[in-house]
Amino acid sequence: MDLTLPKIIAHRGAPHEAPENTLPALDAANKLGAKWVEFDVMLTLDDVPVIIHDKTLNRTTNGIGRVSKTDYATLKMLDAGSWFSLEFSNTKIPTLEQYLDKAQQLGLGVNIEMKAQAGKEEKLAEQIISLLEKYWNQSLPTPLISSFSVENLIPLKNLACPYPIAYNTDSWHDCCRDIATVLNCFSIHMNKQQITKARVLENKKHNLHTLAYTVNSKTEADKLFELGVSAIFSDFPNML
Ligand code: G3P
Ligand code: MG
Repeated sequence: MDLTLPKIIAHRGAPHEAPENTLPALDAANKLGAKWVEFDVMLTLDDVPVIIHDKTLNRTTNGIGRVSKTDYATLKMLDAGSWFSLEFSNTKIPTLEQYLDKAQQLGLGVNIEMKAQAGKEEKLAEQIISLLEKYWNQSLPTPLISSFSVENLIPLKNLACPYPIAYNTDSWHDCCRDIATVLNCFSIHMNKQQITKARVLENKKHNLHTLAYTVNSKTEADKLFELGVSAIFSDFPNML
C-alpha cells in the first residue's frame, strides 16, 4: 500500500487549543504544523455522518442523548464549543463532508475512525468511500480508515474500499494480528501500554505497521519509536 505516515497524527485535531473534532480544531492542528489528523465519525438518526468522539452528546455539546438517536436537524443546532471555551461558543458538530472539505483545503492527511452503531456499518462505510472519492485530492496522502470494531471494517472490504484500513485495539491478544491480517490491514493502532518490541516486530513480519495512542510526552514517543512504532497519535501535534 502506497502510504507514507507522518511520525505524529493530531488526535481529534488539537484538543488543547480548540474543541476536539470541530473545524476550529482542524485549523489549530494545522497551525501547530500537523500533517495528519485523526477524527471519529458516526451516523445521526437520519444517517448523516458527523464528527464526534462520544456516543452521546453530553460531554462535548450543550445537548444530551445519543448521537444515533438524534436527527441532523436537531444536532446542527447544538453548541459544540462552549464546553471548551466561550471563545468557541456556537461552534457546530461538523459533518464528515464539511470536515473532509476543510482538511483537504488545509492539505491535511486524514485518519477516519469509524464508529457506526450496530446495523449501520455498511451505510457509514458507503458514505465514507463516496465522500473520499469527492474530497480526496490525489496530491494529499492516501486516507487511512480505522476502527475498533471488526463489524465496521468488514463492509469496507465488501465494498472493495480503495483506501488502506487499520484495526484499533485497546487490549492486546495475538488474535488482533490475525484479524488485521485477514482484513488485509495496513496497520494496527494499539494502546501505547500494550506495545512491546516483540509485538511490533511480529506485526512487521505480517506486513502491518504499528501505531500508538494516545502519546502526549516526547520521552514516551521516543521510547515507542525505539520499539519500532511507525507513528503516534497525540493531543499535541507539535510535540516532536
Ligand atoms: O484512533 C486512535 C485513537 O483515537 C483511539 O481512541 O477513543 O480517542 O477514538 P479514541
Ligand atoms: Mg479516535
